[in-house]
Amino acid sequence: MAILDIVLYPASVLHKKADPVDTITDDIRRLIADMTETMYATPTGVGLAAPQVGHSKRMTVIDVSEKAERKNKKGLLQMINPRLLSATGEVEYEEGCLSLPGLGVVMQRKADVVCTYQDPQGREQTITATGFLAIAIQHEIDHLDGKLIIDGLSDLKKDMYLQKLKKALRDNARKAI
Ligand code: NI
Repeated sequence: MAILDIVLYPASVLHKKADPVDTITDDIRRLIADMTETMYATPTGVGLAAPQVGHSKRMTVIDVSEKAERKNKKGLLQMINPRLLSATGEVEYEEGCLSLPGLGVVMQRKADVVCTYQDPQGREQTITATGFLAIAIQHEIDHLDGKLIIDGLSDLKKDMYLQKLKKALRDNARKAI
């Protein structure tokens, strides 16, 4: 397994609608295993979608459990072709994104969702989710539709964020001797 590079805003792959996975091959299983390791390797990542590692495919991994429980991977969801069957209620939450470091955006989401997907073995699964898990599922499905939490901000705010991100990347590059 490998830890993959996370693609940062404003890479075009992040704004592309991802393709469905027709056949779950060994390559697909390897990619989702690598995405899982990549998510767990980040200090704050509770979800990662395939476009965020440069693959425009409808796949995502999520684990919203507390830090101590992440080791046993009990809360891990590996979703291929996830699709919402229902989404009800309203909730507001300030979300972050691994492709948008340092940015928090208050998003309007549905409070309860039912989501169907295939697991890496190709079995159809259905999950009923509420709370933070429901929010994470919607955030990741947005990634697969080429939508980011920054999209709703004004052009001015987007530009300000981009300048800040570029500066942070420059500063980090300087520190990494
Ligand atoms: Ni994200």
